[in-house]
Amino acid sequence: MTNPVIDFLLRRTSAPIPELRAPGPGEEDIATMLRAAVRVPDHGRLAPWRFILYRGEVRHRIGERLAELAERREGPLSEGRRQQELTRFSRAPLVIGVISSPKENPKIPQWEMFLSGGAAAMNLLIAAGALGYGASWITNWYSDTEEGRAILGLAPHERVVGFVHIGTYEGTAPDRPRPDPATLVSEYVGPWES
Ligand SMILES: Cc1cc2nc3c(=O)[nH]c(=O)nc-3n(C[C@H](O)[C@H](O)[C@H](O)COP(=O)(O)O)c2cc1C
Repeated sequence: MTNPVIDFLLRRTSAPIPELRAPGPGEEDIATMLRAAVRVPDHGRLAPWRFILYRGEVRHRIGERLAELAERREGPLSEGRRQQELTRFSRAPLVIGVISSPKENPKIPQWEMFLSGGAAAMNLLIAAGALGYGASWITNWYSDTEEGRAILGLAPHERVVGFVHIGTYEGTAPDRPRPDPATLVSEYVGPWES
């Protein structure tokens, strides 16, 4: 018996970001993807994540700010490097930032809040693919610096789970070798002498 969900999960790949084109998802598809993204395990029902949409003209302004930041950190940029930074957020028609926004809670470890953010990003990636878009989850250097995160609209206590790039993709993404689960699984036999 075929199972469409399993078939999809076993075939899914990310799409190359430079090949993502307009049109990107409209309001209805974005709403659907976000409903999938929030439907994730979340210990304590804290919703310790949020989402930021990057689309339209602002994507170019972000690129200018990232190029300035890269230059402050690294010194003068080559033309190629400058172009790379300028176009970081304008390659795909839509980027959805999945932001971990941990809450103060005496019982739930922050680690679990981060993991729930990863689940939200994965559901978003799956939903984008299921709606027929190409999508790719990246973070990149600017996610790892406080100044980069500020440019992208994060508060100091927040972290980037991923910037999910989404657009129309007409190619076939080359698959990459996947690990053999058999090499990663063991049967627990306990610490006892047999
Ligand atoms: C948290 C996280 C951050 C990532 N950041 C990057 C990145 O900055 N640049 C990159 O090329 N790939 C990054 N990747 C990997 C891409 O998502 C990669 O294309 C993906 O592993 C392809 O796998 P798939 O075809 O199974 O989706 C990241 C993955 C994760 C989970």
